[in-house]
Amino acid sequence: MSKQIFQPNAAFAADARIKNMDEYNALQNKAIEDYEGFWGDYAKEKLDWIEPFTNVLDESEAPFVKWFDGGKLNVSAQCIDRHLDARKNKAAIIFEGDRGDKQVITYLELYHEVNKFANLLKEDFGVQKGDRVVIYMPMIPEAAYAMLACARIGAIHSIVFGGFSSEALKDRIEDAAAKVVITADGAFRKEKPYMLKPVVDAAIDASSPVEKVLVVERNNEEVTWVEGRDYSYNELIKDKSTECEAEIMESEDPLFLLYTSGSTGKPKGVQHNSAGYILWAQMTMEWVFDVKENDTYWCTADIGWITGHTYIVYGPLAMGATTVMFEGVITYPDAGRPWKMVQDHRINQFYTAPTAIRVLHKMGEDEPAKYDLSSLKVLGTVGEPIDPPAWKWYYEEVGSSQCAIVDTYWQTETGGHIVSPLPGATPIKPACATLPLPGIIAEILDPATGEKTEVDETGYMCITRPWPSQIRGVWGDKERYVKSYYGDVQKDGKAVYFTGDGARYDEDGYITITGRTDDVINVSGHRMGTAEVEAAIKKHANVAEVAVVGKPHELKGEGIFAYIVLKSDEGVADEVAEMRAINTIIKQEIGNIAVCDDMVFAPGLPKTRSGKIMRRILRAIAKGEAITQDISTLEDPSIVAKIEAMVKG
Ligand code: WT7
Repeated sequence: MSKQIFQPNAAFAADARIKNMDEYNALQNKAIEDYEGFWGDYAKEKLDWIEPFTNVLDESEAPFVKWFDGGKLNVSAQCIDRHLDARKNKAAIIFEGDRGDKQVITYLELYHEVNKFANLLKEDFGVQKGDRVVIYMPMIPEAAYAMLACARIGAIHSIVFGGFSSEALKDRIEDAAAKVVITADGAFRKEKPYMLKPVVDAAIDASSPVEKVLVVERNNEEVTWVEGRDYSYNELIKDKSTECEAEIMESEDPLFLLYTSGSTGKPKGVQHNSAGYILWAQMTMEWVFDVKENDTYWCTADIGWITGHTYIVYGPLAMGATTVMFEGVITYPDAGRPWKMVQDHRINQFYTAPTAIRVLHKMGEDEPAKYDLSSLKVLGTVGEPIDPPAWKWYYEEVGSSQCAIVDTYWQTETGGHIVSPLPGATPIKPACATLPLPGIIAEILDPATGEKTEVDETGYMCITRPWPSQIRGVWGDKERYVKSYYGDVQKDGKAVYFTGDGARYDEDGYITITGRTDDVINVSGHRMGTAEVEAAIKKHANVAEVAVVGKPHELKGEGIFAYIVLKSDEGVADEVAEMRAINTIIKQEIGNIAVCDDMVFAPGLPKTRSGKIMRRILRAIAKGEAITQDISTLEDPSIVAKIEAMVKG
C-alpha cells in the first residue's frame, strides 16, 4: 500500500491553478531564491491595499516577526467589499440548518448584514478597535457575521467552541479580558433544541470583564435575561444602517485570538494578525482546493476551531467563493446526510476530518453510492494522520477514484495549510501529506543536530523560515510563545519553529506526519492537553494523583486513558459511579470532548526517584504493548506489574 501512487486527474490538472510538478517546483524554487520577492509579489497581487506596505518581512526581533509593514487594509473589506463589483449577487454563504432549512446569503447581503452587526457593536456596546469580543455560537450565519463585524471595526474576536463548558469559557473570557460576549439562545441538533446561553450565564460572575452579552435568537427557547447586560440581537439589529466604513488597519494589527491546548498549563491564546493571515488563507484556498468561480465548496468543521476560521469564513470569502455552512450533525438523520448535501448543493470541494470519514465509513459504507456525487473534484482531510483504510474508502467510494485527496497538514498556529498535495499537480499516496506548499520552508529535523533527517527516520516537523500566516504570539505571554515554539530545535545555531509533531521522509521526499511528540492528545482531530484533563480530574475530592495518556481509538483517532490514584486506599466501593462522577467534573471543567474513555484506579503511578511520572510506560500499558524500558530505576518498580494486571483484567 505504501508504494501506491495516484496521478492527478488529467482533465482536472489541465484547468488547475498549479498544473504539474514543474510548476510546483518553479514556485518553490522562486520562494527559496527570493523569499521576500515571492511573498511581496503575492501580497501585492492578492490583496487590496488601502496603503501599500513598505517592507515585506522584518525579522529584527525574531521570533517576533512583522509582515508587510506599513501596509493598511481591512480584512472584512478583503472578504466582502472588493467582491461587490463582480459578485454582488453571487452566493457568499449557503447555510443548511440541522432540520434541512436552507438560506442563501449573497455577497451584497453579507455586506449589509456585517455592516449592521458592526454598527450594533459600535453604537450599542461601544466596542472599539483593539477590544476583545468572545464569540460563543452555534454554526449559523450570524457567527460569520459576528467574526467579520469584529474585523470590520478592528475588534479582536476570540471564538470559543460551542462544546466547551462554562468553566472553559470563563477562563478564555478572563484571559483575553473580553468586554462583550456574542452568543445565541442555542441551536438545533438532531432536530432538538440545545442551549448555549445558560453556559454563558454561568461563565460570567461579578468580577467578570464582560459588560454586555448579545444573544442571537435561533431556537427561541426560554432564556434568562440579566437586565442591562443581555440584549437581543434580533431586536437591536432592526434599526441599524447597512453601511459601516471599514476601520483602516495596519498589516500587523491583531485579527483574532484562538485558544488551543499545549502540553503544559492552561490553553494558549494564539494570536493571528491581519495581512499575512488573510493572504495565506486566500492563497491556500486557491491552490489546495482550486475553487473555481462557479464552484460550491463545503468544509464541515466548526467555526470554533481554526479550520472553521480559515476554511469556512476567511479563506473562501477572501477569494470570492461560495462557502457552505452546516448547523447539523453529519450522521443525522443517517450517514448519508453529507452525500445528500453534496448532491443537493452540487458540492465541488468537500473538506472534513479523518474521524468523520471513519464514522461515515463505519455507519454507512454503502451510502455514497446512493447519491450523485459526480460534482466532486477535490476531497480534503485535516486534523490528524488519516489511516489507509479510511483514505481508501474516501478515495474510491466518495471520490470514485477521480478526485484528488488533499491531506492537509497544519495547526492553529500556522493559520493555514503547511504541507499538502496540490490537486492538479502532486501525485498522491494514501495517508501522506506529501510536500510543503510553495513558500513554506518546512523541514524534518533531528532535534539533536538540527540536520535534516534521513529517509524513514522520524524527526521533528519544523518550519525554518517565518511565514505570513504564522502565530504572532501567545496572548499576554511573550515568553510562552518563544518557549513553546522556538525552544526545542535549532538549525545552524538559530531557533526554528517546531510544530510539536513528529514526521518522516519517504524515498520520494514525501512527508508523513507521525503525530505529536509532546503530551498533547488528538481526540477526534481536536487537541487536548493532558495537563488540562489532569487538572480537571484533580478537582474530584477523592483524587490524590492522576496521569492521562492517549490510546488509539477506532473512531476518535485517540481516546483519553486516565490512571487515577485515590486518596483513600480502601479502594472504591462503586467504580462505575466514581468514573461517572469524574467524567461529570471533566464535562464541567472542559466539555464533553475531554471525557475519558478508560479509567483505571491504580495503587500508585510509575515514577522516577525524582518524582517524574513515566508516561511512556503508562502509554505502553494502555496500548497493551510490552514494556521495553528499564524499570529497575523506578521509585517502586512493582507498581508497573500491578497496573498492567489491572488494565488487562
Ligand atoms: C495538530 C493541530 C489544523 C486544523 C485542525 C487541528 C494534527 C492536523 C494533520 C494531518 C497529520 C495532522 C497535528 C497538528 N494534524 N492535520 N493532515 N496529518 N496530523 O488544529 O487543533 O491546532 O491541531 O493536528 O498533530 O499539530 P489543531
